[in-house]
Amino acid sequence: MTGKPSFQYFEICALEELPPGERLFIDVGEEEIVLFNIAGYVYAIGDVCTHDGGPLGEGELEGFEIVCPRPGARFDVRNGEATRLPAIDPTPSYPVRVSGGMVELGIPVTE
Ligand code: FES
Repeated sequence: MTGKPSFQYFEICALEELPPGERLFIDVGEEEIVLFNIAGYVYAIGDVCTHDGGPLGEGELEGFEIVCPRPGARFDVRNGEATRLPAIDPTPSYPVRVSGGMVELGIPVTE
């Protein structure tokens, strides 16, 4: 038992449908998630600012940081960490992999 969370991967789209500089919004169950392709690498975080529920994915990207459009808080899209107040708590971060040209999103498996 490692204590690491396990993930189940789901195909989201073809990588060519999410080219560099683009983003994609999806709902998985009750989770709102936004995927970003930054220079060919795809990252996925919760589409919710942890300060006050702002639509985080609609914000401007600056490097690897997304700026909440309400505005103010920033989050690192690589790990969901809040990098600027007024947000303190991270937004969820999800693993992404590309397999056979398809973007696959990892959802934590609850046992
Ligand atoms: S809801 Fe994002 S900074 Fe307030």
